[in-house]
Parts: sequence; C-alpha cells; structure tokens
Amino acid sequence: MRSPSLLLAAAGLAAAAPFSYPLPNGFPSLNATALQQVYKLAGGTLPNGALPSSLKPSGVQTLQLIAANELFEVAYFTELLQNITTKVEGYEEGRDRYIIDTLKAVIAQEEVHVLSANGVLANAKQTTIQPCKYDFPVTTFRSAIALVQTFTDVVLGVLPLAQSVFAADGGDEAALVPIVGSIIDQEGEQNGYYRSPQRKVASAAPLLTGGAPQFAYSAISQFIVPGSCPNIQAIGLNAFPALSVQCKPKANDSMVTFSADGVVGAGNATLVYISGQNLPVSVPISNATTAGGKTTFSALFPFSSGAFNRGLTIGAVVGEAGQKFNNTAEVAAATLFGPALIEVD
Ligand SMILES: *[C@@H]1O[C@H](CO)[C@@H](O)[C@H](O)[C@H]1NC(C)=O
Ligand SMILES: *[C@@H]1O[C@H](CO)[C@@H](O)[C@H](O)[C@H]1NC(C)=O
Ligand SMILES: *[C@@H]1O[C@H](CO)[C@@H](O)[C@H](O)[C@H]1NC(C)=O
Ligand SMILES: *[C@@H]1O[C@H](CO)[C@@H](O)[C@H](O)[C@H]1NC(C)=O
Ligand SMILES: *[C@@H]1O[C@H](CO)[C@@H](O)[C@H](O)[C@H]1NC(C)=O
Ligand SMILES: *[C@@H]1O[C@H](CO)[C@@H](O)[C@H](O)[C@H]1NC(C)=O
Repeated sequence: MRSPSLLLAAAGLAAAAPFSYPLPNGFPSLNATALQQVYKLAGGTLPNGALPSSLKPSGVQTLQLIAANELFEVAYFTELLQNITTKVEGYEEGRDRYIIDTLKAVIAQEEVHVLSANGVLANAKQTTIQPCKYDFPVTTFRSAIALVQTFTDVVLGVLPLAQSVFAADGGDEAALVPIVGSIIDQEGEQNGYYRSPQRKVASAAPLLTGGAPQFAYSAISQFIVPGSCPNIQAIGLNAFPALSVQCKPKANDSMVTFSADGVVGAGNATLVYISGQNLPVSVPISNATTAGGKTTFSALFPFSSGAFNRGLTIGAVVGEAGQKFNNTAEVAAATLFGPALIEVD
C-alpha cells in the first residue's frame, strides 16, 4: 500500500492521507451527550442488561476481533460518507439524501457495535482494542460499495463462530449469543442494501459462507497502516500473507489464476475453497511461477461441483498436495496464504 502512494507522489498527485481517529464527536471516547446523539442516529441503544463479569480467553479474543473489525468499519463508512459529502470525484452516485442518511445511521450503528464489544471487555477487566490508522484501496462509490459488501460477507461468515465460542464457554458468556445474533441480523440488512446498487440479487444464497477468525483478521489487516495500531496484537492472531484471485470467476467451471504473496512450492500445495455451509473443496494447483517474491499459479474453480454458493467463496493455500478438510477451522489452521475473496454474482 506504500508503493502506490510513492508512485502517486512521483506523478505529482496527492495521495489521500490515512484515516485516523478520533471522529469529530470524540469517538471512540464519547461523553454522555455525544453518546445520546449516536443512539439517536443509530436508531437504538447498547443492550442495557447485565454484562458478563468474567470471560474465558477464547471469549476475550473473539470480542477483541469484533472490536477491531467494527473500528475498521466505522473508519471506512466515515471516510466513504466524507468522500460523498465533500464531492470527491468518483463519488457522484452517492450524492443522494437516502444514501447519505443510511450511511449516517450505519456509522452510528457500527460505533455502537464497537462500544458493545469493548464495553463487554472493559466490564470483565480485559484489554479493549484501540483504533489504528487505515488506508483503503477504493477511489469510487461503486468500488467502495463492492468492497464493503465483500467485507461484510467475511464478517457474516465469522460472527456465527463467535456465537459458537460464547456458547461453548458458557457461564456469563451465554448471554452474548443472542446479542451477536442481533448484530448478524443487522449486518445482513446492510449487505442486501450494498448488493442492490450492484444489481446483484439482494440475498445471495440460502446459507451464507462460513469463515474463520484468522481469515477475518487477515482481511482487516490489509487496510491497516503498518505499525499504526496501539494494541491490535493483544488479539493474538497473525495475518496470513495475501492471496488474491486475478480475475472474476463466473458461476461455472473455469481455470483461475491466483497470486500469492510469497513462494508456493509447485506440487507441494493445495488450494482449498470454502463456500456456503459445505465441506471445503481441495483442488491441485498448477503452473506455479515465482517472480519478485510473488507466486502466480492456476487452479480449477469447480463452481458446478455442487459445493459452491452464489456470493462469497473463500480460497486458501495450504501446504502439501492433496490435503482434504472437514471444516473451515481445519482449513484455517493449515493455511499458508489467504483468504482469497471470490465473489460470484
Ligand atoms: C461532549 O463531546 C462533544 C464532542 O467532542 C463536545 O463538543 C461537547 O462539548 C462535550 N460535552 C461535554 C458536556 O463535555
Ligand atoms: C475516499 O477518497 C479517497 C480519494 O480518492 C480515497 O483514497 C479513499 O480510499 C476513499 N475512501 C473510501 C472509503 O471510499
Ligand atoms: C463460463 O461462463 C463464461 C461467461 O458466462 C463463458 O465465457 C465461459 O466460456 C464459460 N466457461 C465454461 C467452461 O463453461
Ligand atoms: C500458466 O501461467 C502463465 C503465466 O502466468 C499463463 O500465461 C498461462 O496461461 C498459464 N497456463 C495455464 C494452463 O493456466
Ligand atoms: C512443502 O511444504 C511444506 C509446508 O509448507 C514445507 O515444510 C516443505 O519444505 C515443502 N517441501 C518441498 C519439497 O517444497
Ligand atoms: C474427515 O471426516 C472423515 C469422516 O468422518 C474422517 O474419516 C476423516 O479422517 C476426517 N478428516 C480429517 C482431516 O479429520
């Protein structure tokens, strides 16, 4: 993300400054008056029941990841709204009262999500997550909406796993299961809205794609200015080196080219797809070529095999040829590069 900025500077163009907190209302620290204003814009409040007084380590990690993700989302939507209202070129389509009012509500709702996750952590005397600085790879309203839709798909994949963690931990954490469920509902409402201007069917599939905390963390990390986070390492997750798909696969079988940010051993790696609530699909990779520290390779995208959904499919490279997996957690544990975020319309 640094080198494009240098190129822009060399071309005499000002690169956009990274997004940094706090917001004008003081967020992530809100006084009582500012909090009431956020509730008003959000259309509702934080849950007012008792919070867990103790959390297990897995519950802490889960809440910290949710907080880090929601902080990224507040930053993203704030900058998007700012681009629209300050008439940045490329954001003309967003200059619509309904879109602006919706984004204002979404920003406030995501602020409440941050306060909710960090509030539970603080109540249980655990480390709350502080915001980083962020750089986003979009420069138009269209690309901004497409990216946030993909990102929300990733979040929708991982939040059900948060519910599993809280349910398995039990005790006070059980009360968080329906609260996270209500956040999933809310993000689902948002995502139908983001699919709509792209003319994608509003609801992608009967069962959306699952994920893994490592994949969500890796996806957020791509937007973080390196070294700008006060304490994101408290989460205890590491981002995988990037894997990206070099074309837009269709809803049929095709050979697809991927690019991995490192060396992928030819004949010594497998590409695994996660789509819907199906078993992961492993395919061999071929034609691996490493140059300049990156490896491009080809792999079949077997969409018509019956294990693929419309919407998001996650791709990951694991070591060893021919590895098969029974669930997404096993895939994430074996991942070397990922997640490739593949959207089929
Ligand atoms: C609350 O915060 C807002 C935003 O920072 C500020 O304008 C306002 O003066 C603060 N109010 C009080 C009572 O501190
Ligand atoms: C806002 O516009 C700037 C300048 O084009 C761009 O660099 C940035 O990524 C945009 N942010 C969003 C969220 O659209
Ligand atoms: C897949 O669909 C695309 C466009 O819909 C078409 O160009 C391509 O030939 C198809 N490939 C196969 C293998 O059917
Ligand atoms: C193999 O890779 C080269 C260079 O990346 C590409 O041009 C070619 O189409 C690939 N072949 C296959 C079968 O994917
Ligand atoms: C194959 O991949 C594994 C796991 O990444 C690595 O440890 C091993 O050295 C590789 N073997 C070869 C022959 O490249
Ligand atoms: C996946 O499940 C099958 C059937 O239950 C089992 O035989 C196999 O060992 C499992 N694979 C792994 C990697 O756990």
